[in-house]
Amino acid sequence: MKEKRPFPSSLQLVFHLLAWLPVLWLLWGFWQDQLGLNPVRTITLRTGKTALIFLLLSLTVTPLYLLFDWKWVYRFRRPLGLYAFLYATLHVLTFVGLDYGFDWTLVADAIQNNRYTLVGLTAFLILLPLALTSTKRSKAWLGPIWWKRLHRWSYLAAGIAVLHYALLVRQYYTQPLIFGAILAALLGIRLVMALVKKRYALG
Ligand code: HEM
Repeated sequence: MKEKRPFPSSLQLVFHLLAWLPVLWLLWGFWQDQLGLNPVRTITLRTGKTALIFLLLSLTVTPLYLLFDWKWVYRFRRPLGLYAFLYATLHVLTFVGLDYGFDWTLVADAIQNNRYTLVGLTAFLILLPLALTSTKRSKAWLGPIWWKRLHRWSYLAAGIAVLHYALLVRQYYTQPLIFGAILAALLGIRLVMALVKKRYALG
């Protein structure tokens, strides 16, 4: 029988601890009254940024495997995607609950009047079915091909999230541009590797 290696599980533990740090940091800031003059805005900004970072990290897994043949990184793909969804949900809940007090008329007005909210909502609505179908059971139910096709939408969700960011920063485009460049590079690696593989397959 193969012996279980302790290294990946301790790495996973560290990973999960790190993934919860942004929440703990926010709770600590709230407790210590260190979230600035507008704590709701601080929570919105931090959860939004964290969601985008996790989303991009989840998209880094396949390029890492393709470039370096690191199969172990796949262990982190599902949790990374789910953490992205967790932070996106906290982000949306902060907006709807803390900012607008669950007043759906006001929320609908905000979505109609601010393009970036509509764009953010689109990204969230794409992430939702991806999170719901992230289980092994859903994969078996959809079949690997349809599951893969559906989960490729994560690139679109990330692109739309970057657009959401770009629309709300107005003239300070540096950060959305950096996130956009990272996304383009990740997509580029996948496309190039797919082309190379095809060429090899054709001989
Ligand atoms: C219904 C969906 C969403 C709504 C209503 C929404 C709303 C907002 C609002 C109000 C802000 C702050 C604007 C400001 O005060 O300057 C914001 C910022 C942001 N949101 Fe969203 N958002 C949504 C979905 C998403 C999703 C799905 C992501 C990422 C996956 C995301 C990522 C971001 C980022 C990166 C920021 C900027 C953070 C920063 O400047 O540090 N948002 N969003």
